[in-house]
Amino acid sequence: MEKKIEDIKTDFENKLKDISDSTDLENLRVKFLGKKGIVTEIFSQMKNLGPLERKKIGPFINVLKNFILKEILQKKEKLRGFDLEKIVNSLKPFDVSRPAKFGGGSYHPITLIQEEVEEIFRSMGFIIEEFPEVVDEYQCFESINIPEHHPARDMQDTYYLSNSKVLKTHTSAAQNDIMRKYGAPLKAIFPGRCFRNESTDSSHETTFFQMEGMMIDDNVSISNLIYFMKIMLSEVFKKAVKIRLRPGFFPFVEPGFELDIECLICGGNGCSSCKNSGWIELCPCGMIHPNVLEMGGIDNKKYTGFAFGLGLTRLAMMKYSIKDIRDFNSGNLEILSQFFNV
Ligand code: DAH
Repeated sequence: MEKKIEDIKTDFENKLKDISDSTDLENLRVKFLGKKGIVTEIFSQMKNLGPLERKKIGPFINVLKNFILKEILQKKEKLRGFDLEKIVNSLKPFDVSRPAKFGGGSYHPITLIQEEVEEIFRSMGFIIEEFPEVVDEYQCFESINIPEHHPARDMQDTYYLSNSKVLKTHTSAAQNDIMRKYGAPLKAIFPGRCFRNESTDSSHETTFFQMEGMMIDDNVSISNLIYFMKIMLSEVFKKAVKIRLRPGFFPFVEPGFELDIECLICGGNGCSSCKNSGWIELCPCGMIHPNVLEMGGIDNKKYTGFAFGLGLTRLAMMKYSIKDIRDFNSGNLEILSQFFNV
């Protein structure tokens, strides 16, 4: 019996050698392992053996069967152009005792800039508040002096949700709640993601980040605003930056300004990034409108304050020289994983 098993194995090996297509291979499998195959046949002959011999021969036939199965599978992969043996041989020995090494992750540039700016304001005594992305129209508009039908609502292409809520178009939507929560005096920043229904290009996105800031006290003036902005920007860019204020209209501030910084790419000489003006618009701001203070429950006879809406995404673009705003949401790790703060 043992000799017979040995012969079957040799016979199989010889036949396998000559096979060069998968149909022949399948036929070979049936011939040896099929219902009436040679190996199946020899299994059925076991019943003619005595118990001792059966115990001895059984494992031999099993080994033969597994051998044939494995060879057929390997040949199948080889015919498909997948040489398992070659692959296994090419693998480097694996050292199981080696400590695991994970690929290093990275922070998104918006996270980096947000944490950096938060830290700067925290060190100047500001609190940091989070605020939902879905708000109601009162929060987003009315409570900050943009009544219904006011033309200023058209300045922001709002996403309206079916439950009569809106996606926050600006972080100013949190001003009213935060004034009501903390009262005056107040020093707070509140970063967040904002949404606008815009056509996208290299400088416009439907989703972007802002950081709103408010300082309210009994003697706050425009010079306080300039001071805090200058400190923050020179910390972010690690050098003194020149800023200028231009008049700007926003219903929630009076007077309102556009704060520009000198273009850091050309040093103010004019280049394509600053549209040859030497300046980049970074942070609209102003003195909080008395109506807004009042709606926030703050005595506007006693207190004044400034507010600003820093473009976090724009700041990140400048700090990290990212030319296309769409890169932020692209999920492209080759671009997004190269930034870090020093
Ligand atoms: N919320 C305004 C916007 O996104 C930006 C802004 C302007 C915020 C002036 C302010 C401000 O706090 O004082 O268009």
